[in-house]
Amino acid sequence: MTNAPMIDLRGTTKKYDDGPPALAGVTLSVAAGECVAILGHSGSGKSTLLNLIAGLDKPSSGTVTVDGTRVDQLGEAGSAKYRRASIGMIFQFFNLLDDLTVLDNVLIPAQLAGMSKGEARRRAVELLGTLGIDRHAKAYPQRLSGGERQRVAVARALMNSPALLLADEPTGALDSSSAEDVRRLLLDLNADGQTILLVTHDVQLAATTAHRIIELVDGAVARDVVTSGRDAAVAVRTTLTRPAGEVR
Ligand SMILES: Nc1ncnc2c1ncn2[C@@H]1O[C@H](COP(=O)(O)OP(=O)(O)O)[C@@H](O)[C@H]1O
Ligand SMILES: [Mg+2]
Repeated sequence: MTNAPMIDLRGTTKKYDDGPPALAGVTLSVAAGECVAILGHSGSGKSTLLNLIAGLDKPSSGTVTVDGTRVDQLGEAGSAKYRRASIGMIFQFFNLLDDLTVLDNVLIPAQLAGMSKGEARRRAVELLGTLGIDRHAKAYPQRLSGGERQRVAVARALMNSPALLLADEPTGALDSSSAEDVRRLLLDLNADGQTILLVTHDVQLAATTAHRIIELVDGAVARDVVTSGRDAAVAVRTTLTRPAGEVR
């Protein structure tokens, strides 16, 4: 790969029918290997930003380039193919299919991408092992704890070795100990080189997981700070502390 950024947004704006724009001229660049948190209160445009990067929605103006692909110019089929090949996503509520076993959930992206059955199975079992949930391979998601379900979702997201992992409030539905497990998992993945974009309203999660925090206010970048390292979480938290109510 070249030195081109993993994510590059230029003057990216998203307007819905009425009201102010959900994203208002966002320009930002994320390099391969970064773990960046997108921080902002509810309604600040975080999910809109994520959807544009994932090719799930189109900007009203401006460009979205990911891993060299002009995502904003893709058609429906191209955009689905791009997501399968380049993007892994995890969500607050896991989005697993309850009618499928853990293993079958993890296999879905490989099947959609046309990976051979044997290879897909090997990779899925290996990922479940790495994530410490291989003993649940034949269980159904509803039998698992929240933390275990999020691990399954992470395995599924990693199935096609995505260039970019997008996480939308991945610890939002978890108890504090499971949330800490998932946070450490993200740290491990990033240490192995995985580029991660973490969307959250949780200042502490952002400060202790990402090494860079981009804060959105009313759809615009209000702050873009490279932290002095995740170990210096306390210092970061101090610089990010704002008047009560502004950022949760
Ligand atoms: N499909 C939509 N139609 C109209 N307005 C929307 C739509 N999606 C989001 N918005 C608006 O865009 C703004 C940003 O929303 P969103 O990106 O979901 O924020 P966040 O994820 O930070 O909570 C909000 O004002 C929201 O109401
Ligand atoms: Mg959101």
